[in-house]
Amino acid sequence: MKIILFGGKLGQLGWELRRTLAPLGEVMAVDRDDLDLRDASALEAFLREQAPQLIVNASAYTAVDRAETEQDLAFAINEQAPRVMAESARALSAGLIHYSTDYVFDGTLGRPYVEGDTPNPLSVYGRSKLAGEQAIQAAGCAHLIFRTAWVYSTRGDSFITKTLQWARQKTELRVVDDQVSNPTWARMLAEATSMLLSQGVGDVPAYVGEKSGLYHLAGWGFASRYEWAQHILANDPKRTEQLVQTLRPAHTDEFPAPAERPLFSALDCSHFERTFGLCLPPWQEALQRCMEA
Ligand SMILES: NC(=O)c1ccc[n+]([C@@H]2O[C@H](COP(=O)([O-])OP(=O)(O)OC[C@H]3O[C@@H](n4cnc5c(N)ncnc54)[C@H](OP(=O)(O)O)[C@@H]3O)[C@@H](O)[C@H]2O)c1
Repeated sequence: MKIILFGGKLGQLGWELRRTLAPLGEVMAVDRDDLDLRDASALEAFLREQAPQLIVNASAYTAVDRAETEQDLAFAINEQAPRVMAESARALSAGLIHYSTDYVFDGTLGRPYVEGDTPNPLSVYGRSKLAGEQAIQAAGCAHLIFRTAWVYSTRGDSFITKTLQWARQKTELRVVDDQVSNPTWARMLAEATSMLLSQGVGDVPAYVGEKSGLYHLAGWGFASRYEWAQHILANDPKRTEQLVQTLRPAHTDEFPAPAERPLFSALDCSHFERTFGLCLPPWQEALQRCMEA
């Protein structure tokens, strides 16, 4: 099976998928240097020429604050590119795997969100990601859309790497305790994706078609950013390098940012668990394993 993996060289999730997808077929990882996803006609021509059986889209415009002033760019990557991928997948009878976000919700519901809850994004990023979901659904290809949350890895620029950096620079850290969601290790997300695809081995596009739809898939359980930071500091394998003495809870409105974040945007993943018989480990366990790795 030929698999095109967008965002597969540098993205947090894409980097992990490149390894976990390998047993399923020939993986061609494509990044910005190979193809700029802003160019819809180049993307369409590339997919027509390559004719993959599976398209995995781990690329996205993920700069939540910058998106407020780069709306066209955010929509080009998060709506237009997935639309082209979905239309190409339909033309090629291929399957499409795509990822979306808890930021499609406004965070006011007071319980973890299920797939049937009404989205109401508060930011350009959230609106662009919701538009991407809708474009894929409208194209009518075989697709799986996984809404996930608070993706991290020890590579690149994630909440983990930032917290570890701050802990080495400051004696006191203040982290918001009113934003709550599911910390999700990119590796676990990649492994779950590949495990469920292996259930369709023999005809993965047909399997994706059979299971087509939108699923919530994120670390099991939820936490505030403050609790998450507590666990990051406690699991730091180089704790002796930390300068930080005190971690204090703070409120979101004390840190004004261009983009508004949902406060309680945790995802309920039981539809995914029932459908595929898989779930991600509790977030605390995954974090510990990530930081030991
Ligand atoms: N990170 C989170 O907390 C989070 C939370 C919820 C959902 N998600 C979703 O999960 C998925 C994976 O996120 P992630 O954290 O792994 O993302 P990431 O690390 O930001 O990676 C995104 C990838 O997309 C590529 N990309 C961006 N613009 C491009 C362009 N114009 N042309 C070609 N490639 C381009 C980036 O390349 P460059 O490095 O060259 O820019 C990068 O490789 C995304 O769909 C995201 O929306 C993420």
